[in-house]
Amino acid sequence: MNIPMVDLKGQYEILKAEIDDAILQALGETRFILGPNVQAFDQEAADYLGASFAISCASGTDALHLALLAAGIQPGDEVITSAFTFIATAEAIRYVGATPVFVDIQPGSFNIDPEMVAAAITERTSAILPVHLFGQPADMNEIQALADKHGLKVIEDCAQSFGSRYQNKTTGTIGCTGAFSFFPSKNLGCYGDGGLITATDEATARQIMMLRNHGSSQQYHHDVIGYNSRLDELQAVILRIKLKHIDEYNRKRLAVASAYNERLAGSRFQTPAIPQDRDHVFHQYTLLCDERDEAREAIIAKGVSCAVYYPIPLHQQKAFDNTAQPVLPVTEASAQRCLSLPIFPEMSEAQIAAVCEAVLAA
Ligand SMILES: Cc1ncc(COP(=O)(O)O)c(C=O)c1O
Repeated sequence: MNIPMVDLKGQYEILKAEIDDAILQALGETRFILGPNVQAFDQEAADYLGASFAISCASGTDALHLALLAAGIQPGDEVITSAFTFIATAEAIRYVGATPVFVDIQPGSFNIDPEMVAAAITERTSAILPVHLFGQPADMNEIQALADKHGLKVIEDCAQSFGSRYQNKTTGTIGCTGAFSFFPSKNLGCYGDGGLITATDEATARQIMMLRNHGSSQQYHHDVIGYNSRLDELQAVILRIKLKHIDEYNRKRLAVASAYNERLAGSRFQTPAIPQDRDHVFHQYTLLCDERDEAREAIIAKGVSCAVYYPIPLHQQKAFDNTAQPVLPVTEASAQRCLSLPIFPEMSEAQIAAVCEAVLAA
């Protein structure tokens, strides 16, 4: 049995009639830029997340960039973040001319360690950028308390955490802003690139709306130099349909993760803890093990996909050669030992069983 990491085709087949109809309707309306579906999606996403404001944009990377610009992060500023993440998190810090300061993650959660954040704060620190990696909320109480104490902005990287909750608040509504990605394989994904920024205050939201549209809030009036970073109307059509199913998708992901945890318990693979005080949406299900590369090859040989997120932490990437190179033991060990298994809402019992059989034999 061949099992992919995600089954976008299978999900499309289920939604095909609804998506095809809605796409044809949008094509017929020909309002392709900031059209009715984009406007409706921004409102529906804000309502779903419980955010005061939600502004869609062209990608998750742009969402981070625009959020940092709107927070006033400037050249010379330091932004504390995780090195165990996708490069976009720190690329965006560079885009605004600031310096990413990489700190270690906690053992087990893959998320930034608030104690390490506290130790890294300097006079130049202007923001903390936690990543809710793999769909699990970071320790936001501790992070927000540090931010309040030192007068820092908190920008949440929610690219992998749409719908996850931390003490009854959705991720993206706790800090000043949250940046989401709708890359196709994300737990809420479109059929191309897409992103969204949530904001708690109106001035920030207005600025982000201008920045995504050439610095303009009124046609041909440009108050600031902005960007062309609008969500595509056709992507908004798809996202509006999928948003209606996101709770069910996240619930099914959690069910797959629970089944994996049960069946892999006691094996040589360390399974991710399912936290009780926050909702993990399992965008990825990630194990830790020794001799990871051998295990990966053996699992793939059985037709089961698996992947390494992330093999090289950001502080060890060539692109950040000119940044301080701290020693981050938990991050570095995780990069050597992590292995992500297939996880998607439509997974069948037979697929779950086949994945576990391949893992236990590896
Ligand atoms: C943690 C994280 N941050 C940012 C991004 C950037 O999102 P996008 O690919 O939509 O630009 C991604 C996804 O790719 C991500 O996983």
